[in-house]
Amino acid sequence: MPPKSTAASTAGQPPPAELAIPALLDLILDTHHVFARDVLLRVRECAEAIPPADLQRDERLPKVQEAVEALSDEMLSHMHREEAMLFPVLRRIAGSSDVDSVDMEIITPPIECMQREHGFIDELLAYLGQLTDGFQSPEWAGPVHRELLDELAAFAADTTEHVRKENEILFPKALSLA
Ligand SMILES: [Fe+2]
Ligand SMILES: [Fe+2]
Repeated sequence: MPPKSTAASTAGQPPPAELAIPALLDLILDTHHVFARDVLLRVRECAEAIPPADLQRDERLPKVQEAVEALSDEMLSHMHREEAMLFPVLRRIAGSSDVDSVDMEIITPPIECMQREHGFIDELLAYLGQLTDGFQSPEWAGPVHRELLDELAAFAADTTEHVRKENEILFPKALSLA
């Protein structure tokens, strides 16, 4: 199976920075969250299916398997927290005509929590990049091993843009509503 490329194209749409909060939330959910769930499922399947011969040949690969599990667990629970808690509150506040300091007190701690989690996800991706020489397949790697690294590289690239939209566009927009 060819590696996933990246989240759905947004060609033809206004730049994310020009979108209102509800449209920006829809964009993040419909592209990055859908893509991340899809690619992480495949990454986990590939990590669990690396042949024993490959695992013995590169002693870093069992650490890659552990880090993939940690990354997947962290990213899935992070996205769940955004979808179930923070994003609905941001949608409600964005649609309100009188946002006040109480609303800001409600959203500031979860936004700071999501920013810390973005940092942790970034650290796990950097660690995986170190363990895999920048997600490069060695010439002896079999197809599943190669697919794992290709999918991880695609996930890393998409997560960079996903986190940028949240940290640099969505959260500052939300915090400036009051
Ligand atoms: Fe997100
Ligand atoms: Fe996030």
